[in-house]
Amino acid sequence: MSKVLIVGAGGVGSVVVHKCAQVPEVFSEIVLASRTVAKCEAIRDSVRQRTGRDIEVTAVDADNVAAMTALINRVKPALVLNVALPYQDLPIMDACLAAGADYLDTANYEPPDEARFSYTWQWPYHDKFKAQGLMALLGSGFDPGVTNVYCAYAAKHYFDEIHYVDILDANAGDHGHPFATNFNPEINIREVTARGKYWENGQWLETEPLSVKQSFDFPRIGPRNAYLMYHEELESLVKNIKGLKRIRFWMTFSDNYLKHLEVLRNVGMTGITPVEFEGHQIIPLQFLKALLPDPASLGPRTKGKTCIGNVIEGIKDGKPRKIYIYNICDHEECYREVGSQAISYTTGVPAMIGAMMMLTNAWRGQGVFNMEQLDPDPFMAALNRYGLPWEVKEL
Ligand SMILES: NC(=O)c1ccc[n+]([C@@H]2O[C@H](COP(=O)([O-])OP(=O)(O)OC[C@H]3O[C@@H](n4cnc5c(N)ncnc54)[C@H](OP(=O)(O)O)[C@@H]3O)[C@@H](O)[C@H]2O)c1
Repeated sequence: MSKVLIVGAGGVGSVVVHKCAQVPEVFSEIVLASRTVAKCEAIRDSVRQRTGRDIEVTAVDADNVAAMTALINRVKPALVLNVALPYQDLPIMDACLAAGADYLDTANYEPPDEARFSYTWQWPYHDKFKAQGLMALLGSGFDPGVTNVYCAYAAKHYFDEIHYVDILDANAGDHGHPFATNFNPEINIREVTARGKYWENGQWLETEPLSVKQSFDFPRIGPRNAYLMYHEELESLVKNIKGLKRIRFWMTFSDNYLKHLEVLRNVGMTGITPVEFEGHQIIPLQFLKALLPDPASLGPRTKGKTCIGNVIEGIKDGKPRKIYIYNICDHEECYREVGSQAISYTTGVPAMIGAMMMLTNAWRGQGVFNMEQLDPDPFMAALNRYGLPWEVKEL
């Protein structure tokens, strides 16, 4: 029985709160804090209607370490679950250290003025968390998150050595808008327009943005073009999966999405350098975000499935082995259950499960951890139980 403080009332935050509310034996009290309290109230009302449970809501500016620390001191949660934006990771970690609370997030820090997400800012917190006997779990979403745990599970049960990993993320959902992103548009477009990067034979290799593609036949979706991108779990998996020779990340995009993105990029709308407009400094990408549909509004209109998984090759008992481990999630089923589309769902459920692992001491440690450093078995069992069942195919 534990109290949890959830920060961020966006698409992912809404799923996390609904899923925690479904498990009162672990999450006995839930407090939701975000910048705009009206969004917290809408989630509170939906949770009350769907589960009969009441949660506390409050406003906070999580960039303000003193305000965040005061909130943690008042609420006294066992864990702070951060599903605000990556920019808030460091201030919330600082507040957890100041107030003495465990920490969990789903995306690694990136500075607002530089599109470069990396663990290099959060890993150095390891000694500070350890010194206080606290635990921080980084990247407990789907990718990163479940994809890291899939690697740990494969290493534990299927391989003596893992040599090649390809993480493949397909969203075959249709929301009916000409152009929209499935999670925060600013974070999503920064990620997609960055240079591609993968790891092979001990070094990082870079590619032009979205310039390398392969066709992959996704179960229950069919063949789709998947594009090589840099993604944050590669950085930790290279460190933690021993013997790896190559790891890459691929994501599907429709031709329509790519056409819109190319035009927006060509005219400068995806830039993050401020420009002067009629006496105001505006950041083009933030202005674009204001024009695009709110990802949280896509739930009622998105149909189709997502399929995210890992193709893993290596050696078992002296013989080559190749497996595919994956989850399929249906946008409309997610909407029926928690009022959100599958991208928010596939992120929010692992965030709830990561928190459950920590609060029940199934996962315990002192310091800062990535998902693949912990025992995959209880997490994999919980995925099956709480809405993201997985399958393994021998290839
Ligand atoms: N690992 C994965 O698989 C995965 C996948 C998708 C997303 N993610 C991550 O999940 C997180 C949430 O994504 P999302 O799609 O839910 O984004 P979102 O809909 O934009 O929600 C973000 C929420 O954070 C709040 N917020 C922003 N700045 C804040 C601040 N300074 N103080 C307090 N609250 C603040 C926002 O408040 P306002 O409403 O007032 O703006 C908003 O409610 C992001 O970090 C994203 O990168 C991870």
